[in-house]
Amino acid sequence: MTLFNLEKNSYVPYSHKSEVAVVESKNGTWYPGVRIENISFPLTISAIQNALFCCLSEAEYPTTVLIKNPLKQKENLQYWQKQYGFTIADIRECNDIKMASVVRPVDDIPATLQKLLDDALVDESDFPVAALVETDAGFIPGVNIETPDWSRGLCAERIALAKAITYGLTDFKSLHISTRDGEYSSPCGACRQVMIEHVPHHPVHLYHADGSQSRHYTSDLLPYSFQSSSLQNKSK
Ligand code: THU
Repeated sequence: MTLFNLEKNSYVPYSHKSEVAVVESKNGTWYPGVRIENISFPLTISAIQNALFCCLSEAEYPTTVLIKNPLKQKENLQYWQKQYGFTIADIRECNDIKMASVVRPVDDIPATLQKLLDDALVDESDFPVAALVETDAGFIPGVNIETPDWSRGLCAERIALAKAITYGLTDFKSLHISTRDGEYSSPCGACRQVMIEHVPHHPVHLYHADGSQSRHYTSDLLPYSFQSSSLQNKSK
């Protein structure tokens, strides 16, 4: 996967401004991230956050961030750099990098989700959530990642979807979500808004803390949703 090909995986139907970042982990593994916009603009995930959370959700720690024009993204970068203390380099100085695989072999979905819960970074809530998005290429995992600034954390569902989109694995089949605690597992409103854009009519399997399961469809979880056709600049 070349850096050029990666950038093309950006999901930017509203701005048409693609963006890519790559993170090197302590173990020398590389994780990519692309910009993923949302019809509800504030739910947009930057390439930097996406790449960092791709790395962190794989139980790795970021040491270097490669982006185009680091100076242009100074403000966004500063927050994350303070948080994780990585080095910044210009992506254009790098040639081909071999990205980590994020597709997981899964025999037993509930058991895999249970194990994944241990990778959630939940210093703020102590409420781990795990997700698996099924694509034609296999299952891509996600866990929730929190930061001291709550508004910069991301839910497990959105991290799993963002990883799949970054890797160009967008032939989605189903989504699976599990929590360890709480009355029942249920994607939050922000996740439903993102899900309606990428997995609108797909089955969503919820694995509840008491061992029971339920099956839903995204469109039922977010009826009367905000449509991208309402935005005039979608096809600009
Ligand atoms: N969380 C998820 O990961 N998915 C959901 O759909 C519900 C909420 C996370 C976000 C935050 O890290 C913690 O659970 C408490 O809200």
